[in-house]
Amino acid sequence: MKKQEIFDNYDNYILHTYIKTKVIFVKGKGSYLWDIEGKKYLDFFPGWGVGSLGHCHPKVMSAIKDQVSKLIFIPNSYYHIAQAKLAKEIIYYSFKGKVFFCNSGAEANEAAIKLARKFGEGKRYEIISFENSFHGRTLGALALTGQERYQRGFEPLPEGFRIVKFNDIEAVSRLINEKTVAVILELVQGEGGVNLAKKEFVLELRKLCDKNNLLLIVDEVQTGVGRTAKMFCYQHYDIIPDVMTLAKALAGGLPIGCMVVRDKFSDLLKEGEHASTFGGGPVVCRGALAVLRTIQKEKLLAHAQKMGEYLLLKLNILKNKYPQIIKEIRGIGLMWGIELYREGIQIVERCFKEGLLINCTHQKVLRIMPALNVTYKEIDKAINILERVIKDLR
Ligand SMILES: Cc1ncc(COP(=O)(O)O)c(C=O)c1O
Repeated sequence: MKKQEIFDNYDNYILHTYIKTKVIFVKGKGSYLWDIEGKKYLDFFPGWGVGSLGHCHPKVMSAIKDQVSKLIFIPNSYYHIAQAKLAKEIIYYSFKGKVFFCNSGAEANEAAIKLARKFGEGKRYEIISFENSFHGRTLGALALTGQERYQRGFEPLPEGFRIVKFNDIEAVSRLINEKTVAVILELVQGEGGVNLAKKEFVLELRKLCDKNNLLLIVDEVQTGVGRTAKMFCYQHYDIIPDVMTLAKALAGGLPIGCMVVRDKFSDLLKEGEHASTFGGGPVVCRGALAVLRTIQKEKLLAHAQKMGEYLLLKLNILKNKYPQIIKEIRGIGLMWGIELYREGIQIVERCFKEGLLINCTHQKVLRIMPALNVTYKEIDKAINILERVIKDLR
């Protein structure tokens, strides 16, 4: 297929719901991607947070290949080996409880909404979420999302969702009433601009939820599976959530979603009350098992911590050199935001031309989330490109 024909097919046959960059990728390996013309790109935003192990990690590939040759799919009305192993492993790395498998982050959050509603027994149903949060595009997840621009045009949204200022415990406290059943948050708001929840706030929130018998749900769709240099971000905060949602990086590039529910709430959803045809199929579960085992075997959490510190050091040097352009660097592990005094799109586009893929969110925040197995050399290369681009800005 010729390049133009591919673009034409997208134009003619696919809904135009994405802002797209005109590039066709054909191959990926580790932190690198190659386009159809053979140009090589350093990917510092692999798969929007999906590519924690980079592209096509050999362990993930061989697990998937092996599974595909044995059994591609089996529905949830039967048993298979990979789901049994994966569920046990997720619980081993998180907290005592049970999991529900689905296919995406939004779906995992929808499951959490339904679980909360069961918990509320028809009397309590309001869920509190935060300004600048992002929880997905389905109607329930959209109602949780604290950004009007995503909701506009899709009203009326489902009822029972209240949005409040992030990191403001008094504001949460004021909103709690006899209908409130849960609070959901991202511990680092990714799409919202890489905003970190303060530790004190999270500790207070945990107490507030306990006091008012509310579920504390953490959305770790973006922060989970090593992104913040702990297996799950809540582990930085000395709390245990009641519910955790996962997706993105969990299966090394295959579509997966997962809701992890603490033991005492794990009987709320009964047989027939929630389901997903594809959720937790053999191939995705084998991919996810390979991801979790690789993170452990290759000691990628410690590596991510070390690489994150190095990246921060380099970014701070850039900030000091270009204080008129860079306002703030913030993040944790390998999830970093560079807040600018100006719009970031031009920088993203120039980096792309120079062979570096990064992202910009909230107009002014460059978002960098390299693979957990990124190297010093790759960080140096990315920083060099970024500096060249920033230096040339007019
Ligand atoms: C924190 C968070 N929650 C939920 C979602 C939605 O995930 P998905 O696109 O897999 O539905 C995203 C996607 O970016 C996310 O970052």
